[in-house]
Amino acid sequence: MNSESVLSCDRLWQNARLATMAASGVVEDGVIACQDSQIVYVGSRTEAPAFRAAEVVDCARRWITPGLIDCHTHLVHASDRAHEFELRLAGASYEEIALAGGGIVSTMKATRAASEAELVEAAVPRLDALIAEGVTTIEIKSGYGLSLDDELKMLRAARRLGEARGVMVKTSLLAAHALPPEFAGDADGYVAHICDAIIPAAARAGLADAVDGFCESIGFTPAQIERVFQAAKAHDLPVKLHAEQLSNSHGAALAARYGALSADHLEHLDDAGVAAMACAGTVAVLLPGAYYFTRETLPPPIAKLRAAGVPMALATDCNPGTSPLSSLLLAMNLGATLFRLTVEECLAGITREAARALGILDQVGTLEVGKSCDLAIWDIERPAELVYRIGANPLHQRVWRRH
Ligand code: NIG
Ligand code: FE
Repeated sequence: MNSESVLSCDRLWQNARLATMAASGVVEDGVIACQDSQIVYVGSRTEAPAFRAAEVVDCARRWITPGLIDCHTHLVHASDRAHEFELRLAGASYEEIALAGGGIVSTMKATRAASEAELVEAAVPRLDALIAEGVTTIEIKSGYGLSLDDELKMLRAARRLGEARGVMVKTSLLAAHALPPEFAGDADGYVAHICDAIIPAAARAGLADAVDGFCESIGFTPAQIERVFQAAKAHDLPVKLHAEQLSNSHGAALAARYGALSADHLEHLDDAGVAAMACAGTVAVLLPGAYYFTRETLPPPIAKLRAAGVPMALATDCNPGTSPLSSLLLAMNLGATLFRLTVEECLAGITREAARALGILDQVGTLEVGKSCDLAIWDIERPAELVYRIGANPLHQRVWRRH
């Protein structure tokens, strides 16, 4: 081979087994080449062009997956709600605690009292736990500020976390999470404030990558959520929704009508909601940590979602009230055992489908040429081990672009 046909790259991983999560599937004797933080070759060694790499890594037949993506978190918040957990163990329900002034509003009080720097500091250990398992992209919601200044403070804290650690952060404005006390008895007034002040300010500041809401009897009605969605659309922001978590408000169908990236939770989703999501290509984000921790008994209609071809993602929902979970590996195990997801669905749910749920499948989520070189390299014999083990972390190395 003459020297002109030798390609240059920054880094080359070889002697690896690849779970590409793309059409190429599994590659046994695999090679990945990275140049300027992008994958420039991924595939079998025998078909690879000749590379001159600044750094060559022998993977000793370890498995490489795309870097993991946690597509639904409330990572930024102050304090915890361990005392409410004790109340629930003693018999109180999540709704009862929320209606008695606890729940989201209790985290709101702590979050309002915290500075932006304190919010970052409190979230770093949770982020580091996720990163230690190979997470390279994370979605972070606001929703515990519930005022213009405090919602923006949360979103700035989320952006700062992305700068503090090598990880891509996508933010979602979740001002429509709960009714703040200053709007007690005036949910419509708060929704107007979200639409007229909070969404425009977040959009102007470039702090929100999407707009989310909580459509529920203890959250907001479909009519109120629709106004939030209209304001989001007016600012060119994609939407997503916490839907059908505790009851069926037909939020998923509403989200689908607005071309939502995802509808999340979905335990009480009905057939019409499944059909609407399938038609719109809205991703079902499944959150087995919240299902487990609140001791729900009705799982989402997985078989119907699967049959209808609705893409399914999996996430931690890391939050202080319903899912104090900072492990995507455990989220996969819960998804398999509680929701009967297959290993393939679990792995796709925290890579390819999670990227789809964030609208960034063109950048991350699979091992393909042109995508960011975000990799998780594992000390395992087969990918099923990532779903099967409980409390083990077989990550050998995480690669985030240049890092
Ligand atoms: O995703 N459902 C609403 N939001 C969160 C819970 C937030 C909280 O209780 O603090 C969830 O489960
Ligand atoms: Fe959530």
